[in-house]
Amino acid sequence: MAERPAVGIHDLSAATTHHVLTHATLAASNGTDVAKYHRGIGLRAMSVPAPDEDIVTMAAAAAAPVVARHGTDRVRTIVFATESSVDQAKAAGIHVHSLLGFPSATRVVELKQACYGGTAGLQFAIGLVHRDPSQQVLVIASDVSKYALGEPGEATQGAAAVAMLVGADPALVRVEDPSGMFTADVMDFWRPNYRTTALVDGHESISAYLQAVEGSWKDYTERGGRALDEFGAFCYHQPFPRMADKAHRHLLNYCGRDVDDALVAGAIGHTTAYNAEIGNSYTASMYLGLAALLDTADDLSGRTVGFLSYGSGSVAEFFAGTVVPGYREHTRPDQHRAAIDRRQEVDYDTYRELHEHAFPVDGGDYPAPAVTTGPYRLAGLSGHKRVYEPR
Ligand code: HMG
Repeated sequence: MAERPAVGIHDLSAATTHHVLTHATLAASNGTDVAKYHRGIGLRAMSVPAPDEDIVTMAAAAAAPVVARHGTDRVRTIVFATESSVDQAKAAGIHVHSLLGFPSATRVVELKQACYGGTAGLQFAIGLVHRDPSQQVLVIASDVSKYALGEPGEATQGAAAVAMLVGADPALVRVEDPSGMFTADVMDFWRPNYRTTALVDGHESISAYLQAVEGSWKDYTERGGRALDEFGAFCYHQPFPRMADKAHRHLLNYCGRDVDDALVAGAIGHTTAYNAEIGNSYTASMYLGLAALLDTADDLSGRTVGFLSYGSGSVAEFFAGTVVPGYREHTRPDQHRAAIDRRQEVDYDTYRELHEHAFPVDGGDYPAPAVTTGPYRLAGLSGHKRVYEPR
């Protein structure tokens, strides 16, 4: 049998929103000690969408640089992972397909399992590329994290999209077998169809996450995965950056290792840079961690990264990826820094207005105010249809 090609992430590009709310502003408005946000959960700021932004506009903004660099010829499939879907039937990826001019001979589908959906998309993409290594798959993870005002989860909101081009002989990260899997039926975090904000049992959700770290690592090692010492860094799902710290300490404990602060910081330190300024971006969060790692760490060529993807409800997967020598010629640190730095800071009252913004649902014509400075915008709603346009 012919040897299987290496398959993995060939390009990775992230985008976020037009607005940002700092945790200093949130703390001043609700009387919380800002140290709880900065040190306790590790967040400095959260991205907030403008009325003409959503998961589609962020996704198109993230994917456009990938298309500019690689074209659309080899992309036969677009997988869009989200838990903040804008339609119960139509895949959000079809809007992206149209905005970016993909050919009609493309398969487009949307996936959901809380924050885990992006990893499901990546693994399904890898399977498709193994079937035909001449094809590439565009995997997009895009989400707006939203909790009710005044709830503990409010401080962990955020929004971002990550677009990944998955293909054979990748330039960034070769994704390995095996994967360790873990599923448990828990109600730690969920969002019924009739709600725009998530419901969560915050402390239960942290325990459920840590259980899933154990479970997926156990399955990974039982399937012949690498030993803990072989990993140079770990990318965890980050609802807030301190969760990566908690998760890695838990893994070290579970493996019977001594836990010291320097060891944990060395393993996860570089992965939190973007998440700390963007907040929770659900499906995109772990891949924003990867973007930060690739963009900011010293040369990782040949190093192995451990990935722990968690989606409440819950499903988790642990897998390994090896960073490809020469990857630094293909990363996008300036683009990512610019996306974070260009956001317009809002005061607390404006944030509240944006949080409560909703279009009427009577099928009338409702143009969205022109606010975003991103490359694509939601023009408005008309006849119950969302209308998107390049800006
Ligand atoms: P809380 O209950 O208000 O906060 O909200 P807390 O009292 O637990 O404090 C948080 C940390 O800050 C603690 O640190 C405090 O000690 C510390 P820890 O003890 O855990 O190490 N602290 C301070 N530190 C310094 N100075 C101070 C200070 N005060 C307190 N003055 C909670 C926290 C995470 C529960 C809340 O934000 C929440 O409900 N968030 C949403 C749920 C969530 O993010 N869960 C995470 C796991 S589930 C997950 O990751 C999946 C998810 O992404 C969804 C999906 O899959 O789709 C959420």
